[in-house]
Amino acid sequence: MINQIKYGSASNNKFNIRSIQSKLYQKRSRGFLLMKQLSLPSGSPLLAKNFTYGVATASFQIEGGAADRLPCIWDTFCSKEGKIVDNSNGDVACEHYTRWKDDINLIESLGVDAYRLSISWPRVMTKSGHLNPTGVKFYTDILDELKRRNIKAFVTLYHWDLPQHIEDEGGWLNRNTAYEFAHYTDLITKAFGERVHSYATLNEPFCSSYLGYEIGVHAPGIVGREFGRKAAHHLLLGHGLAMQVLAKNSPNTLNGIVLNFTPCYSVTQSEDDLKATAFADDYINQWYMQPVMQGKYPDIIKQLPKAHRPDILDGDMEIIAQPLDYLGVNFYTRMHYQASDTDFYHELPHKAPMTDIGWEIYPKALTELLVSLNEKYTLPPIYITENGAAMADEFKGGEIKDNDRIEYYHEHLNALHNATEQGVKVDGYFAWSLMDNFEWAEGYLKRFGIVHVDYDTQKRTVKASGKAYSNLITSR
Ligand code: FCB
Repeated sequence: MINQIKYGSASNNKFNIRSIQSKLYQKRSRGFLLMKQLSLPSGSPLLAKNFTYGVATASFQIEGGAADRLPCIWDTFCSKEGKIVDNSNGDVACEHYTRWKDDINLIESLGVDAYRLSISWPRVMTKSGHLNPTGVKFYTDILDELKRRNIKAFVTLYHWDLPQHIEDEGGWLNRNTAYEFAHYTDLITKAFGERVHSYATLNEPFCSSYLGYEIGVHAPGIVGREFGRKAAHHLLLGHGLAMQVLAKNSPNTLNGIVLNFTPCYSVTQSEDDLKATAFADDYINQWYMQPVMQGKYPDIIKQLPKAHRPDILDGDMEIIAQPLDYLGVNFYTRMHYQASDTDFYHELPHKAPMTDIGWEIYPKALTELLVSLNEKYTLPPIYITENGAAMADEFKGGEIKDNDRIEYYHEHLNALHNATEQGVKVDGYFAWSLMDNFEWAEGYLKRFGIVHVDYDTQKRTVKASGKAYSNLITSR
């Protein structure tokens, strides 16, 4: 079926020959220096003052400070030969653990309204299921500082760093992990009190379950068709239980979930290819969306062998379908499909133009995705909780003129605008990422930041894209 990393094949990186002749060059005062800007049609809801713009990160990808927390599944995965392209790990990462104050200065300097961060479960909880005061203080200090500066905190409770001792009991294949997650949610949300603006239970359960427990390219690296749906069910159950906890402990925050979508396009309009593509969409995207929104799995569940189906107990689907204050949508790329003689569908490699990680750049898919979700479901307000691009940045004369990344942001923000024109309610947008960081199985080789990080010195340098993003936000 699919055996490629994350959003499909990461091959052909060297062929990222995207020559973009932008219409958007703005002449600067002197010389030939051209600096691209981000722009939106005047009157766009994305230019309203109350539209939330932010930057996003995740704990394992930036923090380091590994000695002060319990091991997680990504520590274990990184220690296995051949799992991470550059053999790196999260021990140091961006040293955000000690540099967090400077990083908040940086966030403030960009003029954003919000910061999306995730909480490291193994940092804030002990093995015996109590809060770890040192870990909790790390986050309450950050949250206090954000509040002081009027930056809204969007907190993700689970961005993939499951405590290893919980994995040792079966991880997300063990139903009990859902209850452990609800317990952790209960304690940490009480500790955070009024500091948070918005909670997300999970980030991208597709990645945790499918990449982690079905094709094994992410931690914990388990492979087998029979595992993916079972892990997904326990993740979704954990989401539902955590939503119930949030409704009780934190009724005034915006509470929801972050799902990633990789829209599926058929290579031809033949009946067989269209059918295979619809199956892929149900397997990859709607598998997570439909239970959360409607309390049921897509009908393709009946086509799966019994051994590959999740173990659903009475009442589970009602728990999973808790009302949401918002839906977080992460969008990067699309994929193409065709019928297969041996499987439900066949996934094709990405087409040019691609980013440095090998993902096709196709902004229109963002518009089409949101419009189709809006047709299929009764949606709560949407926040784009991640969107951005890995580009082969060149650091020259102390600057990174990442015009290709600016172009990516420009096109996607305008694609988002187009979705609002077609009736989709979008309340916010987060750039992935604040800064270059540990890109999971790709290690430190792929740079998604709007701020450059020199991993030898930990120096941060705002890229041209960071400046353009800042200009867009602050000139509203
Ligand atoms: C998403 C992840 C995020 C980052 C981006 C590039 O799938 O949520 O942590 O790795 O991809």
